[in-house]
Amino acid sequence: MKIGIIGSGVVGQQLGIGFAKLGHDVKIGTRDTSKLTDWIKTVGGKGSAGSVLEAAQFGDILVLATKWQGTEIVLQSLPVDSYNGKIIIDVTNPLDSSQGGVPRLDATEDLPGGLKVQNYLPEAKVVKAFNTISAYIMINAPREEGVPDLFIAGNDADAKKVVAGFATQWGWGSVIDLGDIKSSFWLETFAMLWIQFGFRNNNWTHAFKLLRK
Ligand SMILES: NC(=O)c1ccc[n+]([C@@H]2O[C@H](COP(=O)([O-])OP(=O)(O)OC[C@H]3O[C@@H](n4cnc5c(N)ncnc54)[C@H](OP(=O)(O)O)[C@@H]3O)[C@@H](O)[C@H]2O)c1
Repeated sequence: MKIGIIGSGVVGQQLGIGFAKLGHDVKIGTRDTSKLTDWIKTVGGKGSAGSVLEAAQFGDILVLATKWQGTEIVLQSLPVDSYNGKIIIDVTNPLDSSQGGVPRLDATEDLPGGLKVQNYLPEAKVVKAFNTISAYIMINAPREEGVPDLFIAGNDADAKKVVAGFATQWGWGSVIDLGDIKSSFWLETFAMLWIQFGFRNNNWTHAFKLLRK
């Protein structure tokens, strides 16, 4: 498959490496392709860099990995035919870091970030996923204390199955579906728990497992 990644930070680069390792072709979209020189070397012939529009047009599946404050402007720049009908894996967290310290959640239960993304891209199949873990473990789930689970949300059942398939290949245990894209609110609040723990313990390799009796 061809994967278009919008966002050139650690999330975009790590997921790009993960997709390349699974044999997919990846293009990362950015305003500055020079920052991806090392990443291109890492993924060898499976990766390239281009504009955000080029990455969106390239991908059969798209990944959204932008800083929240840049997300709206990036998505609104895309023509409908660049995302129409495509799966969008939304890894963003709607965070406000303007006050320093632990960032604050900039979302409500009625209008979570995932729903905003879906509203910006109404013809796309948005699946919120991978937003409750560090970029550095997304493609290599930690296993020292058990196999952690991944939590996802989205409107399209088939799209969620595709995303779950990637997660399984990257070592995640159960992929737990929390519901439609409005339920992304719970993933975003869950990310706040992950962030609070990370700040308090200076540890960023933690992940979660759902235990049932
Ligand atoms: N870091 C993690 O471990 C982690 C884990 C889970 C979720 N997330 C979420 O995943 C997303 C990406 O995180 P990240 O740490 O990889 O990188 P980041 O520093 O939060 O964002 C990097 C990307 O955002 C784009 N961007 C920033 N400001 C922009 C603006 N004003 N206009 C257009 N584009 C803008 C950059 O575009 P250019 O390439 O054009 O500069 C770059 O591609 C964030 O929403 C974050 O909350 C991060």
